[in-house]
Amino acid sequence: MFSPSILGGDFSAAGEELGIIASSGADYAHFDVMDGSFVPEITFGAKFIEDLRPLSDLVFDVHLMVNQPERHIERFIKAGADMITVHAEATNHLWRTLALIKENGKDAGVAINPGTPVSFIEPVLPIVDSVLVMTVNPGWGGQRFIANMIDKISELNQRRQDEGYPFIIGADGGVGKKNIRELYLSGLDLAVMGTSFFSEDDKAEYLHILEECVE
Ligand code: DX5
Ligand code: ZN
Repeated sequence: MFSPSILGGDFSAAGEELGIIASSGADYAHFDVMDGSFVPEITFGAKFIEDLRPLSDLVFDVHLMVNQPERHIERFIKAGADMITVHAEATNHLWRTLALIKENGKDAGVAINPGTPVSFIEPVLPIVDSVLVMTVNPGWGGQRFIANMIDKISELNQRRQDEGYPFIIGADGGVGKKNIRELYLSGLDLAVMGTSFFSEDDKAEYLHILEECVE
């Protein structure tokens, strides 16, 4: 499955970019919310998502790169998020935050930075719908994929097989043609892509090529 990130597109034409994501055949649209504190950059807040919501039936996959995400969950749900991913490093109340997302009927994701081990999120693995492995340091699009993160995906894949956990595994940052096969062989389910997706002229063809790479 693919989740193209609107961060890789042109914000002045966000509605059209969302249409481009939908017509590419992707199932998800990824929204990178940055607060200028957890990460240096600031992108957008809930209103951006709220205004785009009526334009698309895509699964809205909201990646909160914000400190104390528990303060913002209800607002992003109201804006139309289907899945909300919070960083394990950004809250003292990870379990409570994930439970709050699930109590509201939405999918709860946990993200981990490249320097954070899988063991850090071990206690919440039974309750999450998704684990997002950051394959770059969060904060910017267009960075180089950190190949060591493949081991983390394999480790998570092993953990869910051993325990029967139902979560999906995502990778975010520097994902594209060069690494998609290795990622899928390690257990990846959801590829988040900004730069590689938006730099292609024919997005639908690009997703076909990626699908062929993983067959
Ligand atoms: C990075 C964001 C990513 C970003 C990925 O902090 O979380 O979702 O959009 O962009 P690329 O694919 O360009 O690395
Ligand atoms: Zn992201």
